Amino acid sequence: MKKILAGVAITGAIALALTGCASDGTGDGGDELITVGFAQTGSESGWRSANTESMKEAFSKDNGFDLIFNAADNKQEAQIAAVRSFINQGVDAIVIAPITVDGWDDVLTEAKDAGIPVILEDRTVSASDDLYASWVGLDFEKEGHTAGEWAAANADGSNLVVLEGTTGSAPALDRAAGFNSAIEGSSINLLDSQTGDFTRDGGKKVMEGFLQKYGSEINLLFAHNDDMGLGALDAITAAGLTPGEDIKIVTIDAVHDGMQALADGKFNYIVECNPLLGEKVAELVKAVLAGEEVDKTTIVPDGAFTQEDAIELLPTRPY
Ligand code: AHR
Repeated sequence: MKKILAGVAITGAIALALTGCASDGTGDGGDELITVGFAQTGSESGWRSANTESMKEAFSKDNGFDLIFNAADNKQEAQIAAVRSFINQGVDAIVIAPITVDGWDDVLTEAKDAGIPVILEDRTVSASDDLYASWVGLDFEKEGHTAGEWAAANADGSNLVVLEGTTGSAPALDRAAGFNSAIEGSSINLLDSQTGDFTRDGGKKVMEGFLQKYGSEINLLFAHNDDMGLGALDAITAAGLTPGEDIKIVTIDAVHDGMQALADGKFNYIVECNPLLGEKVAELVKAVLAGEEVDKTTIVPDGAFTQEDAIELLPTRPY
């Protein structure tokens, strides 16, 4: 650790939530480990579990890191508090997967003033890019656009409902923008759009509400992630409708359970969102701490899958 700021109290709740590991000198080169605080969003989805695993694997002691991991249960205040606690502990670098786009200016300024570099992974922020060293993530707008292109080509004229991701998050905002621009000029008719917070439970509850209100009028669902789509499957089946037939379903992520639903014909199309960002983030942390120039933005490419693709790829998908 670069520095410990004396006399700074960490609240009991935060201290309990953080699972730090002591340095043991087992990093490559045998030198002191690099202490990294990682503020994860929470554990809302299968995508998130795969992303956490990728980060923990990349930031291992064998790779020269001492990782302090915090998951904020999708609450931005808790995530900001975790980042403040990392600053107070004097970590060498901070990695954040920001829950929402706005609200980061103050804490990022505090990290900058403390001389601690911040790397963003997965989601973006609206704060000035002077306040962080680099961002590694996905083109969420393109993901939404690809989903919308599929819908316009394969379900034109349908009555659409949308399960949105966490309100104010980059993927929810950008996927909505991309999808809407792709269906512009089609005859898809938007019935309703509400947040399911990227969770299965949220997707199920919101879809139940849509089905109560619109019944079999609905024949197209766009879910901003697989998990909400998977939750919606229960609601659709309970309403006596057949997912994939009565209601066409397009989602984003391509995690294992989503790909299984696609292979089974319950989903009709999935746009990929790659969660395996850990290695690239770890490489950037080392480069930034070594004083090297790094790219401000790294976008990891995504694919898109049909039922045939899912059947072929499922046995070898890593997550
Ligand atoms: O930010 C990426 C999104 O966050 C994933 O698509 C979703 O599953 C997760 O919760």
